[in-house]
Amino acid sequence: MPLAERAVCADSGRMGVSVPSNALTVRVLPSVEAATEVALDELHAATRGPGRPLISFATGSTFTALLQWLHGEVVAGRLHLDRLVATHLDEYVGCAPDQRGGMVHELCTTCPSLATLLRRGLFVPVPADGDPARLRQHEQRLAHLGGVQLQFLGIGRNGHIAFNEPGTDFDVGFHVAELATTTRDDARARFLPGEAPPCAVTAGIASILASRRIVVCAFGRRKAPAVRAMLEGEVDSSCPATALRTHGNVLVLLDRDAAAGLRRGREFAV
Ligand code: F6R
Repeated sequence: MPLAERAVCADSGRMGVSVPSNALTVRVLPSVEAATEVALDELHAATRGPGRPLISFATGSTFTALLQWLHGEVVAGRLHLDRLVATHLDEYVGCAPDQRGGMVHELCTTCPSLATLLRRGLFVPVPADGDPARLRQHEQRLAHLGGVQLQFLGIGRNGHIAFNEPGTDFDVGFHVAELATTTRDDARARFLPGEAPPCAVTAGIASILASRRIVVCAFGRRKAPAVRAMLEGEVDSSCPATALRTHGNVLVLLDRDAAAGLRRGREFAV
């Protein structure tokens, strides 16, 4: 459905706006906090059903609040750890789970509840050595756990999702990726005084698209060009995030700044 046909509807309390767009639903929220609250609601909804769903988390500044709030929910007893199995998207090659700068370390320090799941064997870490046989085993393990039911996803300034940089084919699974210059620049602060690793193990676009539901978050003006490309550009490997338009069960949560580049973005800001 072209963006011109987007339907506007109010969301009680948080006043978001729903925008069906090529099988994506886009909501522009008034603040990062409001968007994070919607993302947290998604997590509650996914863990409310039967079974123990596999939830895959993303790292990075976009999800810091969500991870902190998740821990708060567990501490407050509103979400029980036995309601989910955790995994994540990607890891810098060679990073041990307790290594500062690494993704597992970030997830577990931001959300200590995930550290608890890791100790109990209920947080499935991405194999950081990138060995192809271990990556296939990892995929099999995720499938054995029922596959990812809810995938949280950020977007890079260059349109990457996980570490699938521009030019990555849409049909690949977990693999080792060479990081783009902008991605390494963004990662530099994590590894100071050292250098950011040049490569990462990442869920491929096919792995991401295999998730039952995907919640994409993007906040801030520097994400606006990538958000516009994701929603309004050609579906093409030059912007990996456009692959999400082929999925069918994707919710995109934006703050006003991230939506600012959309052709009619102002209409959706409240
Ligand atoms: C991290 C990941 C990356 C980030 C993206 C946005 O696990 O998969 O694709 O989601 O680079 O990073 P932030 O949130 O730091 O802007």
